[in-house]
This record gives sequence, C-alpha cells and structure tokens, in this order.
Amino acid sequence: IGKIKADDDNPGLAVYDPGFVNTASCRSSVTYIDGEAGVLEYRGYPIEQLAEGSNFLEVAYLLVHGSLPSKAEYDAWVHDITYHTFVHENIKSFMEGFRYDAHPMGMLMASVGALSTFYPDATNLKDADNRHLQIVRMIAKMPTLGAWSFRNAQGKPFVYPDNELGYTANFLSMLFKMSERDYIADERLVRALDVLFILHADHEQNCSTNAVRSVGSSQVDPYSAVAAGVAALYGPLHGGANEAVLKSLKRIGSKENIPDFIKGVKDGNERLMGFGHRVYKNYDPRARIIKQAAMDVFEVTGTNPLLDIALELEKIALEDDYFVSRKLYPNVDFYSGLIYEAFQFPPEMFTVLFAIGRTPGWLAQWLELVQDKEQKIARPKQIYTGERTRDFTPASERW
Ligand code: ACO
Repeated sequence: IGKIKADDDNPGLAVYDPGFVNTASCRSSVTYIDGEAGVLEYRGYPIEQLAEGSNFLEVAYLLVHGSLPSKAEYDAWVHDITYHTFVHENIKSFMEGFRYDAHPMGMLMASVGALSTFYPDATNLKDADNRHLQIVRMIAKMPTLGAWSFRNAQGKPFVYPDNELGYTANFLSMLFKMSERDYIADERLVRALDVLFILHADHEQNCSTNAVRSVGSSQVDPYSAVAAGVAALYGPLHGGANEAVLKSLKRIGSKENIPDFIKGVKDGNERLMGFGHRVYKNYDPRARIIKQAAMDVFEVTGTNPLLDIALELEKIALEDDYFVSRKLYPNVDFYSGLIYEAFQFPPEMFTVLFAIGRTPGWLAQWLELVQDKEQKIARPKQIYTGERTRDFTPASERW
C-alpha cells in the first residue's frame, strides 16, 4: 500500500493491487458467484436450472435485460437475432484476406473490431433502442464470424447463415456444411453445444469482461469494446486451459499410467490441468453440467478413450488428500476440451466457442457500464518506481 498525494488538502490513498484481485471495479447485478459454496447465478437464477430448462438465446435475453422474457419478448428477440446473422459482403472479403493458417481467434478479434466501421451509428450510446440494436447485431453475427474463421483455416468456402435454423444449429451448419443438403446437425449435439454456450455466458469480472468494461469506459462503440474482450480471451491464461487438459490426457495415454502422473503432480512437477480455480474452492458448478454434456455427446459420436482416463483421473483426485486439502476440484475446462474434440474442432477453435458463449455476458456488462452514472473512465493509479528528474543530454553530445 502506498500513499499518493492528490492535492494540498487531500493526501489521497492508493491501494497497490496487481491484477485487481482485491479491488471491486464496479457494482453489478448480472452474475453472482459464491466460490466457497460452488454457486453461480445469472440474474439470480442458478446455472443448473438454466442449463437444464432454458436455451442460450433465452439466457442471453436474461443477461442483457435482467429478467426472463414473456413469450412475445422472446419471439421478438429470436426473430431480431435471426434477422441479423448475415454480415456485409465486405466483411467476408476482409476475412478472405487472412492467411490460410490464420488463428481463428485472431480473425474473430479483427472482424468484430471491423464491424465498428460498418455501424457508425453504434457510437450513439445515449439512445436505448440504438444500444439494443448493436447488442442484437453482435450476438447474431458472432457465430457467422466464428464459423468463417474456422472455415478459413480449413481452406473451405464460407457458408452463409441459414435462418431457417435455430441459433446453435445454424452455427454448426456454417461450420460443417459442405453442400446444399449434406449437413443436418444431430439434435443432441445442438443441445450440448447450446448448454456449453449457456455455461460460458457470463462469469462476472473475469479478465475479458474487465477488458470490455475498461475499453467501453472510454465510450467507444461496443464492437471495439467486445474486440478487446476477444483479445483478452485469446490469452492462454484465460481461454487456453481446456486444450492443456487434452494434452495431459493424451500424454497419460492409459488408465494404468494415472498413478505415476498423479505422483508427478504431487511432487510439484506439473499441475493437473482442469483442476482448481481462483474463485471456486468447491466443485465448479459448471463442471458437473459439462460432465453430463460430455456423456450426451459421446453417445452420438462414439466414446473417446480419453474420457475413461478423465473419469478415472477425477475419481482418484477427488479421493486424494493432496487435492482435497487444497480444495482442488474439476473446473469448467476439465471436460469441455473433450466435448469440443468430439465435435472435431481443432484446439484453436476452443476459445472461439468460448467467445461466442461469452458475448451476451460481455454485452450485458457493457450495457450496465454505459448506464451506470457512477462509472468513470477506467484509469488506475500506479506506484512509480522509475528515475526522477534527470538532465537530458542530446545524442550529439552522448555518442
Ligand atoms: N494441480 C495441482 N496442484 C494445484 C493445482 C492443480 N491444477 N491448482 C492449484 N494447485 C496447488 C498449488 O500448487 C498450491 O499448492 P501449495 O499450497 O502446496 O503451494 C495450491 O494448490 C494453491 O494453488 P494456487 O496456484 O495458489 O491457486 P490459485 O487459486 O491461484 O490458482 C488456478 C487457480 C490458476 C486455476 C490453478 O488451480 C491452476 O493452475 N489450475 C490448472 C489450470 C486450469 O485448469 N485453469 C483453468 C481455470 S478455469 C478458467 O479459467 C475458465
């Protein structure tokens, strides 16, 4: 903690809090987490109930509007989002300009940011209808941009949205369709991916949401703010753990090798990826739901030997004092990578899926920010540790 003098009458107080681990940056009524109890609620509704009985677009409505929709509100919301799934042809040309091996997350970040140039009206943040229009547009267009990022890496032509389909089925169609009639997603896969989107839809002030709020606090348009969120999610510490889980499971190779692996973890050689969480010191409520979703997906796609290793690993870890005493439980990433692999997504796509699911949360938090009279531009203090007042000598005299 350091004291910083604000002016002559006010000595001020600055709290040195790297990573803001102990600093509330806002008041928010979007998402509640109790990490000790393993509770996650969107607008007061437990995640388990939403994953069981709702769908992603209804959850998106809930996050953005704060309450569940009436039938008429829901129909209008789904209609509007469906109506806006297409992007301008120039965005398509822009995306076709990326290298054949461009990382899909880099493409998503750039194309969301590029949308800001197509909607100059988005800078009018004072008008509620206008804000709503941008939110609808972005939730609608993210799957299109995400799917096209994937198709670019596959060297395949981009597939236009099919607005006869629901949100998640349409996304799967844009990803995997090869000809007019060859791809109809299995309903169970559509539902499993929809549930994964619900589970990722918000997680209060995580790194990417904080990035959206921080950039949004400059009153920039929401496309630019969300592009910042995508950028934050691109980082391996935020969106990359499920890929690491898959790598560990592949390296373990068979159930017989688990005890050796666990010993290595306990000796401090490596971490059991997909276990532990900064906030959850109990079973991550999302992990339980994802585990069930994994079972549902494997029923369709056929089982993956890695699932057996994961199940056995979890069983052993939950009975081992090392993990129990440190309150290390499976987190959301322990099973999600397995599901994505079953869908035949390459690991580079995992964070794109996360971003599509997180978009309503980012936008709900952005909306809260721009309506909050207490909010100011995000501008933290620093503790200066550098040199003070030195005399400059021109290069001609120094060299
Ligand atoms: N495997 C083995 N030991 C672990 C693990 C793990 N996955 N996680 C924590 N520990 C141990 C630490 O070594 C430490 O032990 P010690 O007290 O003997 O030194 C103790 O548990 C506390 O660990 P911290 O790192 O202080 O816990 P923190 O809350 O800071 O870390 C984190 C949380 C980063 C998620 C950590 O548990 C981890 O690295 N997990 C694996 C990576 C992972 O799955 N990340 C995804 C998180 S979910 C998400 O981002 C969407």
